[in-house]
Amino acid sequence: MSFPKGFLIGAATAAHQVEGNNIHSDYWAQEQMPHSSFAEPSGIACDHYNRYEEDIRLLAEAGLNAYRFSIEWARIEPEEGHFDENELEHYRSVIRCCRENGVEPLVTLMHFTSPVWLIKKGGWEAETTVAYFRRYAAYVAEKLGDEIKYICTINEANMGLQLAAISKRFQLMAQQAQKNAQQAEGAVQVGMNFQKMMENMKFAAQENAAVFGTPQPQIFVSSRTPEGDALVFRAHQAAKEAIKAIHPEIQAGITLSLHDLQALPGGEAFVENAWEEEFRHYLPFIQDDDFLGVQNYTRTQYGPEGQLPCPQGAELTQMDYEFYPEALEHVIRKVHAAFSGDLIVTENGVATADDSRRVAFIQRALQGVENCISDGIPVKGYCYWSLMDNFEWQKGYSMTFGLIAVDRATQERMPKESLKCLGSFVQ
Ligand code: BGC
Repeated sequence: MSFPKGFLIGAATAAHQVEGNNIHSDYWAQEQMPHSSFAEPSGIACDHYNRYEEDIRLLAEAGLNAYRFSIEWARIEPEEGHFDENELEHYRSVIRCCRENGVEPLVTLMHFTSPVWLIKKGGWEAETTVAYFRRYAAYVAEKLGDEIKYICTINEANMGLQLAAISKRFQLMAQQAQKNAQQAEGAVQVGMNFQKMMENMKFAAQENAAVFGTPQPQIFVSSRTPEGDALVFRAHQAAKEAIKAIHPEIQAGITLSLHDLQALPGGEAFVENAWEEEFRHYLPFIQDDDFLGVQNYTRTQYGPEGQLPCPQGAELTQMDYEFYPEALEHVIRKVHAAFSGDLIVTENGVATADDSRRVAFIQRALQGVENCISDGIPVKGYCYWSLMDNFEWQKGYSMTFGLIAVDRATQERMPKESLKCLGSFVQ
């Protein structure tokens, strides 16, 4: 395999998942609640806030030439309108550390976590968030812009609608379970669990109300309404405009979570609808962006009744979805058919305890990228998710996506074979 000169090959992280002690963020607040749905709190995470130099050095020593990370809004603006210069300087040091190691920094401004104050003001369903996000983006661009070439405004901006769809499916299942529980003999256990879940929801609502002033806070990954969905993309446009007004040379884009949607006979209409919702209806908002960040992990198949479970006998990842690295090539081709700008794979990866499977995943995924480039598709980079094993949101530390293992007790870093493998593809 070979990639064009200047092609970026790197790894990605997100502030909350690796830095530790992100205390002004909505996630931190939710993790501390007694009826939290998090498996465990993020705590000190990978202590990347203090150990970034070692982490970037390991990445560079393996040959990688790009590092995608996020700046934490809740650190930069812990209270509305109060910007923390010290935190800004921290990120300046991270960027400089990348440059000193010959690594291109790809900076994300919003990777799921928001300051608590933003959520108190209505979060990602409130019109005011557009202006708040613009102001934060302008601040970062003004202070750090001359050191940054690539900015991803918002990570997986389409996540809210995907979650709305999943939550609808869960509600249907829960209703069915309740019916079954009432009807079926010996289903008391189910009924009791269901009861508990409902009770938990009640307590969680109270705890949310105490912290955010509302029982149903609109954090970034809450189920989005169609209005909220459009608002997220307007926030992206506003941020991009602000960045470009200060530094027109910065390459600005958004990232999207994209599945390889495959139709079995009879499933074509479902695929059409899902692709429209997941990707196509966003085109008017992103058409003029400098690049699009493609994030893909697996495929989803549809039959005449809708979404299908993973094929029988398929290898599953720790996340319980299919190990299917070919999905990346398929998604890139589909995206390119509608979006003519540059593409950067900002995330692609696998959660597995067996690193040899990660090596295989990377080789097969990169083969797909190379095929696309050979066909003239402007893919400019590939960032594996993730540089290190980290805090996988509600699932806590149980998922191992990393190229580097982290001893949770000592924070010792242990590079895996897959890190070396990924580095070997850099020309
Ligand atoms: C997110 C990451 C997450 C990864 C693996 C992406 O959806 O951007 O924050 O850890 O997938 O699940």
